Amino acid sequence: MLSLKGRKIIVCVTGSVAATETPKLVRELIRKGASVFCVMSKSATGIIHPDVLQWASGHDVVTQITGKVEHVKLAGAVPEKADAVVVAPCTANTIGKIANAIDDTAVTTVVTTAFGSGIPIMVVPAMHISMYRHPIVLENLAKLKKFKVTVVAPREEEGKAKFPSISRVVSGIEMLFMEKDLFGKKILVTAGATVEDIDSVRYISNRSSGKMGIWLAEQAYARGADVTLVRGNTLVEPAYPMKDIKVKSAKEMFNAIKENINVDIVVHAAAVSDYTVEKQSGKISTKSSLALELTPATKILEKIKKLNKRAFLIGFKAEYNVTKEQLVEKAFKKLKAAKADLIIANDIGRQDRGIGSDNNEVYVVDPKKRVTHFGLEHKRLIANKILDLVK
Ligand SMILES: Cc1cc2nc3c(=O)[nH]c(=O)nc-3n(C[C@H](O)[C@H](O)[C@H](O)COP(=O)(O)O)c2cc1C
Repeated sequence: MLSLKGRKIIVCVTGSVAATETPKLVRELIRKGASVFCVMSKSATGIIHPDVLQWASGHDVVTQITGKVEHVKLAGAVPEKADAVVVAPCTANTIGKIANAIDDTAVTTVVTTAFGSGIPIMVVPAMHISMYRHPIVLENLAKLKKFKVTVVAPREEEGKAKFPSISRVVSGIEMLFMEKDLFGKKILVTAGATVEDIDSVRYISNRSSGKMGIWLAEQAYARGADVTLVRGNTLVEPAYPMKDIKVKSAKEMFNAIKENINVDIVVHAAAVSDYTVEKQSGKISTKSSLALELTPATKILEKIKKLNKRAFLIGFKAEYNVTKEQLVEKAFKKLKAAKADLIIANDIGRQDRGIGSDNNEVYVVDPKKRVTHFGLEHKRLIANKILDLVK
């Protein structure tokens, strides 16, 4: 399902320092079976020499469009046209041009042509965080998503917009070619950590990265589902143009779920705060000791079947340092209380999996208390195995 064997992929490069990553991307795509053709903007050639990409891809590199009409040969409506066009890295400049159909470099000409011949397009923005936060750059990216361009967002870490890992870019490309076996299904996925404000500055939250939920939403989207994502705080951004609703508190998350509950499947992967607290305005003084009164927040999972009893409901149960038997027992109890169809249980007491990690090991518990074990592997693969259970 995830091979790139026989795929023809055009990798376009623009003038970002992250262009130094592109040869690695090209080599990885070739290793996975793809044939790769590279196109560079003039600015990109000032950062890496075209010879490096010629070496990496094994093909001549297009740096300008000539009488050979390279753009038509690569991305026109011709039998040998490419299967995907990937702009990695993509500058703020080229994002703006693509979003406005401006075409004045070899890269933008290939992208314009690909649009017209229905080739899937993916962009991987790379720029300093201050550029990435420019509202018009963000608006341009939203516009690209609206026109079905896949955007693999940078990792925002330590105040920097870091180029995503090569494996993240490659998996984004693989996802363009996934079998659309969830076509026609409407799926609501929740992800990330909710935030309960204590005052205008402080809050209660948890360490959930949202990675599991976002992989579930992305994989469901890549498999053809109509996905609505409701997310609290997350470390990652969804790459696909799905409906993406951002919320803060457990209450806001519940309201967003209610408004989008008319679906076939609900996957509630968010780490919702168990408690809420009455927000005080301003900043509470630190001069004296302070007792916070925490009140239990709505158990969202238990409300979902009441809102839509036909939805196939998948919940998550995280426990800390328990035996497998205890984990399954707690998951089953949760399943019964929510009338859920599956609970995905994991032990977050271990360093190398679960919360924050890219990997997970889970036990899937069903209403007959049957247990399926998915051993330690990447959350993306776990997400697909979970989705296999509902298709
Ligand atoms: C060394 C260097 C690094 C740059 N890095 C970036 C970058 O990471 N992201 C970006 O949007 N622009 C970056 N720029 C600016 C772009 O190269 C510039 O906007 C250029 O016009 C982009 O043209 P292109 O989109 O056709 O490649 C950089 C420029 C230089 C000289």
